Amino acid sequence: MIPRIYIPGDSGALALGAEKVAKAIEKELADRGIEAKIVRNGSRGAYFLEPMVEVATENGRVAYGPVKPSDVKSLFDSGFLTGGHHKRWLGAPDKIPFLARQTRLTFARCGVINPLSLDHYKAHGGLKGLQNAVAMAPADIVKQVTESGLRGRGGAGFPTGIKWKTVLDTIADKKYIVCNADEGDSATFADRMIMEGDPFVLIEGMAIAGVATGATKGFVYIRSEYPHAVAMMQKAVEAARKVGLLGLNVLGSPHAFDMEIRVGAGAYVCGEETSLLNSLEGKRGVVRAKPPLPAIQGLFGKPTVINNVISLASVPVIMDKGAAFYKDFGMGRSRGTIPIQIAGNVRYGGLFEAAFGMTLGEIVDDIGGGTATGRPVKAVQVGGPLGAYFPRSLFDTPFDYEAFAAKDGLIGHAGITVFDDTADMLKQARFAMEFCAIESCGKCTPCRIGSTRGVETIDKIARGSEPEKQIELVTDLCNTMKFGSLCALGGFTPYPVMSAINHFREDFKPAPVAEAAE
Ligand SMILES: Cc1cc2nc3c(=O)[nH]c(=O)nc-3n(C[C@H](O)[C@H](O)[C@H](O)COP(=O)(O)O)c2cc1C
Ligand code: SF4
Repeated sequence: MIPRIYIPGDSGALALGAEKVAKAIEKELADRGIEAKIVRNGSRGAYFLEPMVEVATENGRVAYGPVKPSDVKSLFDSGFLTGGHHKRWLGAPDKIPFLARQTRLTFARCGVINPLSLDHYKAHGGLKGLQNAVAMAPADIVKQVTESGLRGRGGAGFPTGIKWKTVLDTIADKKYIVCNADEGDSATFADRMIMEGDPFVLIEGMAIAGVATGATKGFVYIRSEYPHAVAMMQKAVEAARKVGLLGLNVLGSPHAFDMEIRVGAGAYVCGEETSLLNSLEGKRGVVRAKPPLPAIQGLFGKPTVINNVISLASVPVIMDKGAAFYKDFGMGRSRGTIPIQIAGNVRYGGLFEAAFGMTLGEIVDDIGGGTATGRPVKAVQVGGPLGAYFPRSLFDTPFDYEAFAAKDGLIGHAGITVFDDTADMLKQARFAMEFCAIESCGKCTPCRIGSTRGVETIDKIARGSEPEKQIELVTDLCNTMKFGSLCALGGFTPYPVMSAINHFREDFKPAPVAEAAE
């Protein structure tokens, strides 16, 4: 048997040196005259172990990591092609605690298969969902997705099946499926990981959405900062067309569905669905007023399903294993699994897919292992730049849409950024206002003007100029932004600002300037 070596081509792993490791392994194989097959897989998401190299042995896969090019010679000397021991030896990848503790439904194949091999994809359960879907009536597919309890993973948590039903029920000569892969939130990389590690699952999910709603064309809008994901998706779409997974007769059925990859315009607000649609139409990424909903008048004025990558990539497993199977995971109205992305100042950063319901404390302390600096955790921002900062006293909050909302927070796209006790929460509150000012599309006043006034007012607090009065002013401003903004950019900026003020008040009591200057 020719040895098979898996080296991630995922951009996170590449950033950590995977390409150099691949070159060193190729060279070592050539120098030693060993014939082996190198597979460039995606990442399994344990980034603290990347570049993680795996070899297929008679007893299953054995992982090594994090591998440096300087480790390669000694790896060969230790017999790593047959799973030999070495200081980088990790054993069976699915037994590594960070991976073993996960429930991988959406990410089941990510980091395991060759991302561009449809044979690998099928051998690991791929296409079963679409095969089932093409044999069903569209309304039954929509019903199954609705009953699974799947809610949008892009941020708002809107029930996916209900959105699909609106598009199905709207009569039009053309309908679209748009996949939102703009992934602009801080600490998020789930969309990128799946597009680079298992692109066919997204294509399958989009094809199911097309069959379910009568849409015949799909677009994936990928942020420009993701060139590897763009390239991978383009290759995967071409491969899918070749085998009839996309085209006039999806998997030999009477349903037509094809798709295109588009590169984003490079603004955070282009991730907002209506702004994204404008950008996709070649216009400036400005938010559209709703109604009309995109499901009724979306891309080019036609009924459009717009869903996040993870929402769509979670559909194949629902159509394969059933609504009840998926719904069985989770808590309350948050059903299924969620890929939590743990980042910032954290020891074990990476993607952790789990059923809803773990507490924030379990995720940060237990799974994430606390801070990378070893200092105490001060705050955790959940849900990207518009998410609230949670102090340790809220670590018992379960990962659930409603539980987070009840504590004035949000789950968003499930990215969490960990901060240690050196973080200055006044600076973080200022950053939130500044971010909003820079990224505002400018359409409405509370966001466009309010964010700039917010920066100025927080600067006054920093200077110690009547801080209590300024805090009152910021609170008032936040209320105006929260209730008066057209979209969640202006509407949610108050979450990081007010959570910083409410939970970390001590950081908002600087000494007056005159005193500080002494
Ligand atoms: C400022 C802003 C940025 C957003 N960025 C993204 C994004 O990058 N990706 C995403 O899926 N949703 C993003 N959203 C949410 C989308 O507007 C929309 O809710 C989502 O694409 C719907 O898909 P889902 O129902 O599958 O979550 C953003 C929203 C706002 C207000
Ligand atoms: S809240 Fe901000 S980003 Fe959203 S529409 Fe208003 S100005 Fe544009």
